[in-house]
Amino acid sequence: MSKHHAIKVVQLTKQVQTQEGELTILKGVDMEVKPGQSVAIIGPSGSGKSTLLGLLAALDTPSSGEIWLDGSPLSGLDEEAKAALRKKKVSFVFQSFMLVDTLTALENVMLPAELAGIKDAKARALNMLERVGLSHRLHHLPKQLSGGEQQRVAIARAFICEPSVLFADEPTGNLDGGNAHRVADMLFALNKELGTTLVLVTHDNQLALRCERQFTMTEGELSETTSSAAAKDAVVEAAADEREVQALQEAAC
Ligand SMILES: Nc1ncnc2c1ncn2[C@@H]1O[C@H](COP(=O)(O)OP(=O)(O)O)[C@@H](O)[C@H]1O
Ligand SMILES: [Mg+2]
Repeated sequence: MSKHHAIKVVQLTKQVQTQEGELTILKGVDMEVKPGQSVAIIGPSGSGKSTLLGLLAALDTPSSGEIWLDGSPLSGLDEEAKAALRKKKVSFVFQSFMLVDTLTALENVMLPAELAGIKDAKARALNMLERVGLSHRLHHLPKQLSGGEQQRVAIARAFICEPSVLFADEPTGNLDGGNAHRVADMLFALNKELGTTLVLVTHDNQLALRCERQFTMTEGELSETTSSAAAKDAVVEAAADEREVQALQEAAC
């Protein structure tokens, strides 16, 4: 049954011990995501969004509940099996880019492919960097790149092993409007082109509405937002207008 889902989550909880006692971060989360879908999770800071992403990506262990990733249940996997599953199926894009400082753009993108033993890692990395419009920045170190460029390198790196699921935790949170749109455009283009399932945490409602589905996290509880298609279209259109205005303003400078 769960074979049909890229992600299936049943009654997931997460408690941690703190100095003030036990803290419940997730209170019974249910979620099903089909392969290739794009899903947004919005919600206030501290509501449990990053914790959920970490659990879904098998980086962390739930207190109770079950997660299936691409049909495989995560419970019962030891650390080694989880690492193997992550390497094969999962990728991450973070708000803070998380590139390796001492490696060039090309080397950063090649790294996961080399670790996976892929023979044409360099050719693939060159192709990915071309797709994100950075063929002219191959040998730059992260500190020699703008924030938007660094995030585009991170996106090229995230897609190089063609993951089943890409988790993006506030990927545009550190970028200005123009770069945020560019980075989002690339995430959605690669999501469509490669059929990657995309789970995106964001504070940006307009970005959330570009996903096929929207969820809201409130104090550890997840609910799906069902807004009418017409309302969505209106917001997406408004966002497009805003981009046009911005483009005009930038052209005028
Ligand atoms: N390992 C931990 N120990 C204690 N508290 C934690 C731990 N991880 C997360 N929290 C707390 O749980 C809450 C949810 O965190 P997080 O998932 O990062 O929220 P979000 O990503 O929605 O901002 C926050 O209040 C955070 O401080
Ligand atoms: Mg977070």
